Amino acid sequence: MPVILAIANQKGGVGRTTVTLNLGAALAERERRVLLIDLNPQADLSFLLNIESGAHRMIQDLLLKPGEDNSAAILQTQEKGLNAITASRELVLAEQEVCNPIGQRATVLSTALARIPEIHSYHYVLIDCPGRLGGLNTIALAASDQVLVVLRATNTSVIGLERTQDEVEHVRQHYNPRVKMMGALLNQYQKRAPSEARVRDDVKLKVNGALFEAVISFTNQVEKAEVARCSVVRWAPKSKAANEFRTLAEEVEARAHVS
Ligand SMILES: Nc1ncnc2c1ncn2[C@@H]1O[C@H](COP(=O)(O)OP(=O)(O)OP(=O)(O)O)[C@@H](O)[C@H]1O
Ligand SMILES: [Mg+2]
Repeated sequence: MPVILAIANQKGGVGRTTVTLNLGAALAERERRVLLIDLNPQADLSFLLNIESGAHRMIQDLLLKPGEDNSAAILQTQEKGLNAITASRELVLAEQEVCNPIGQRATVLSTALARIPEIHSYHYVLIDCPGRLGGLNTIALAASDQVLVVLRATNTSVIGLERTQDEVEHVRQHYNPRVKMMGALLNQYQKRAPSEARVRDDVKLKVNGALFEAVISFTNQVEKAEVARCSVVRWAPKSKAANEFRTLAEEVEARAHVS
């Protein structure tokens, strides 16, 4: 079975989509089979993957009708070894219908994924979560084995981390006893800024040491790759950013215990 990893933080704009795409690309480079799921109605990940929009099923279709042929939702991406299930704005409507009230529907994503026969062939499923509290975050955590929280080294981002930890605990108690924190990742990190080093220590305490050694530095390479609608790992394979994502992938593998 794959390791299902939610890439989360209930604060927006911290780099969840960037990390989902680039961690996926770095794991794929290590010959891992990776499925990316866009669970954000903004559909930024789907845009970056640059997949022709066609008549294919999207994540909202799986949530509304989990019993249909869910394999048809899995698309090839332009990145080697990376497959994806995309989203569009209509995911908002599905969220209202499926997650309101959440109750027994919390496991809808988990059920939909279990009905994809080839899900077993993946090493990792990475879920790009929305940057706000709500039903989509709950169903993501209810479907996940582990959670990687992306944050910037700012005080408000740390508040997002605390809220995400609370939500993980809530989901663990009510819907999915196996979900646990894998760790917190600092993105857009500026090593030389003293305030960022302070926040780093604070975050380490808050996650009981489960802060990734890997950090992703602030760099315009990320934005340039985004313009090219490509992972930085593929767009600038020799860049510092690409290497940082490779270091992250190594650490994720160690924490996920994929053999
Ligand atoms: N390491 C980085 N260096 C520089 N810019 C970055 C880095 N990581 C992300 N960004 C930029 O920050 C912005 C937000 O990143 P991203 O879209 O990945 O965050 P998000 O958490 O998914 O946001 P949203 O809440 O909109 O879903 C993007 O414009 C992205 O290019
Ligand atoms: Mg995003």
